[in-house]
Order: sequence, then C-alpha cells, then structure tokens
Amino acid sequence: MKKIILIGASGKIGQAALSGLEHHEVVTASYSGRGCDYQVDIGSEASIKQLFESVGSFDAVANTVGLCEYADFVDMSENQWMTTILSKMMGQINLVRIGQKYINDGGSFSLITGILSSKAIPMAIADATTSGAIDTFVKCVAYELPRGIRINSINPTVIEEAWDVYGEMMSGFHPVPGLMVGKAFARSVDGFITGEVITVDA
Ligand SMILES: NC(=O)c1ccc[n+]([C@@H]2O[C@H](COP(=O)([O-])OP(=O)(O)OC[C@H]3O[C@@H](n4cnc5c(N)ncnc54)[C@H](OP(=O)(O)O)[C@@H]3O)[C@@H](O)[C@H]2O)c1
Repeated sequence: MKKIILIGASGKIGQAALSGLEHHEVVTASYSGRGCDYQVDIGSEASIKQLFESVGSFDAVANTVGLCEYADFVDMSENQWMTTILSKMMGQINLVRIGQKYINDGGSFSLITGILSSKAIPMAIADATTSGAIDTFVKCVAYELPRGIRINSINPTVIEEAWDVYGEMMSGFHPVPGLMVGKAFARSVDGFITGEVITVDA
C-alpha cells in the first residue's frame, strides 16, 4: 500500500481518480478543503510547500486540478491565458518541482491533461495548449527526476460524470465512464512506466 496525495479530490476527475486508487492510503486535498484532509492552492508555491510538509512521508502525488478559461482565440485576453497557464501548466509543474524534494524514493507524479490537446474544438485553445505543454513536460522531465521518481500524465476524453458540463461544446465526442480514468491513474501509480502520456479515449 502506498501513501498518495490526491489533489482536486472533490472534483469530477478527482473522484474518478479516487475510484482507481482506493486500495492505497489516499490523503485528499482541494482548494476549499471541503470534504478533504487538506487545503491547497496549486497556484501558490507557499501553499504547495505547506501541503507537502504537513503530510510528511508520501509515495505519490496524483493531481487532477487545472483551471482553464474557455473562449475563442480572437477574444481571449492575456488574463484568461495567464489564468490557464498559471494553473494547468505552472501549477502542475510547481507540484513536481517542489514535490520532488519531499516525495519518497521511487515515488511517482501523475498529472492531468486532456484530449483537447490532440482533438481541437472551438473555445478550448488555452486548455489544448497547456495540456500539450504538460504532456511534453512529462515526457522530457522523466529523464531528469532523481531517486527513481516516475512521472506520467493522464490525458482523458470527457467523462460521463461531466457530460452535463462539457457535452454541449463536445459534439462528436463520446464520454467514457470515470472509472476508466481511475484505471489510468492506477496504471501510473502502481506500474513502472514513466514519461508516458496515458490516453483515455472512447
Ligand atoms: N471533467 C472531464 O471530463 C475532464 C476530461 C479531461 C480533462 N479534464 C481536466 O481535468 C481537470 C479537472 O476537471 P474537473 O472536471 O474534475 O473539474 P471540477 O469538477 O471543477 O473540479 C475541480 C477540482 O479542483 C480543485 N481546485 C480548483 N482550483 C484549485 C487550486 N487552485 N488548487 C487546488 N485545488 C483546486 C477544486 O477544489 P474545490 O472543490 O475545493 O474548489 C476541485 O476539487 C481540468 O484541468 C480539466 O480540463 C476534465
């Protein structure tokens, strides 16, 4: 059994990830901390550091947080770009940059991206761009992580549990059950793969 910090546990993808990780000791965290063990803001270095220091020893970080702004490219402001970049891209990079100092030998990071990086739809340019950046980050930083630490990204299509939120903008896509995303997180945490983008598509 591993000790896993699941960030964004109260969200739709967080709950999906939890379904695949329940055979481990899972410590949960989210922005509000409601219903979770810890409160964390992945947009704040100090908050990330405090989370890792409070939890103490752990074997894995599974992150399911990445706030994205949705708008057509021609209308998208720098503010909207920066909100997405600071959360979905730098927030996740900072979890790894700071977390690698705290995580146990042989530990793992599992990050969240999304299918829109390879299947473009209107309004989703910031999500697509930052998801692609994280997939690239994972493939390349895997060579640099010390002490046998592994890293993968989970790149899912929309899940059934979120179809009411995203279905309208995702015509032509078929949702998958959240438990498929849970299995992907389990492959990342339990397996020996590293530097991989684990795609979950219908
Ligand atoms: N839903 C899908 O079908 C799907 C498919 C592919 C990819 N994704 C990606 O998965 C990610 C999560 O999506 P979701 O649908 O699960 O969103 P969601 O249901 O809105 O959940 C968001 C979660 O993130 C937490 N959170 C928000 N800002 C945070 C911060 N600054 N620091 C720490 N935690 C924070 C929230 O905590 P509180 O509840 O406490 O505010 C909540 O637990 C997004 O990047 C999305 O693009 C989603």
